[in-house]
Amino acid sequence: MESDQISRVKIEPLQEGLAFGATVRGLTRADLHEETVRASLKKLWLDKGVVLFRDCEDGVEMQVELSQVFGKLDRHAFPEQWVEGHPELINVKYYPDDGNCYEIDGVQRGGYLPWHTDLIYTANLNHGGILRPIQLPEHGGGMTGFLDQVAAYERLPERLKEMIDTWNVVYVMDINQEHMRFARADSVKFIKGAKSMLSVSRREYQFPRVLHPMVYTQEGTGKKVLNVSPWWAMGIYEFGGPEGDAILKEVIDICIQPEGAYFHEWRMGDMVLWDNWRVLHSSPGIDPKDTRVVRRTTISGDYALGRNLDGGAPDLPKYDA
Ligand SMILES: [Fe+2]
Repeated sequence: MESDQISRVKIEPLQEGLAFGATVRGLTRADLHEETVRASLKKLWLDKGVVLFRDCEDGVEMQVELSQVFGKLDRHAFPEQWVEGHPELINVKYYPDDGNCYEIDGVQRGGYLPWHTDLIYTANLNHGGILRPIQLPEHGGGMTGFLDQVAAYERLPERLKEMIDTWNVVYVMDINQEHMRFARADSVKFIKGAKSMLSVSRREYQFPRVLHPMVYTQEGTGKKVLNVSPWWAMGIYEFGGPEGDAILKEVIDICIQPEGAYFHEWRMGDMVLWDNWRVLHSSPGIDPKDTRVVRRTTISGDYALGRNLDGGAPDLPKYDA
């Protein structure tokens, strides 16, 4: 880095005592042209899993160009969510008259999203994304949760680590959270769906079932990642039925322990980047009378461990344990 960048750009831990995450301050669009800056940001992303950009240059151009530091940008599988004029961005939004609403343990929440890996209902996992708020709820809330699956793997007892090492989870796209089989609240009741997502639900049976390994080894670090997304998980491919479901539930319950999570309280001007190959995210939702709009990029990458189950049972994928 140039000397002015060294004094201006600051890198700090995301939160005291948290084993993952970093905060970057003072970064500008002009800095992104420097190869040394780009290389440092990439390393930070892979080392820390989550990077908050605060007090940095803001704007749609910054969000797109910053995302491009980490890879090519994909267009999301749901064109309904593309931002007009910027198809590399999607809207993740809740409006009182156009938004998903669920009653979670007796409380109505707008825009609630359970713990998940983006696009795990497809064979190709995107490598990450950057979220940027456009409108935050007037009455507070609207946080985004992040959870490190390297640390989650380390929390598993040896018995489970050995058992799941070569197993796969089957996923299927289903936007109704009442159908979630694992890690759901005690009571999840569908209240209403977003009108703008009706066309997505019409297509949901067109998504084939897919497999992803429960554990994989992170390139470059050799660390094992607990690669399990509670949302969209149907069961263990090699171990169907109640015994396999009980194992998957035990693994997921350990994975999503609240002490392993960080909940980001958004400020306008913030951007958060995460590694979708090792970090789960979620949204606790907002008061259904409020509004929240955030925009996300979809950073491409060659994950290559997912497999379509369409067309009969395929050979199981091979990967390094
Ligand atoms: Fe997501």
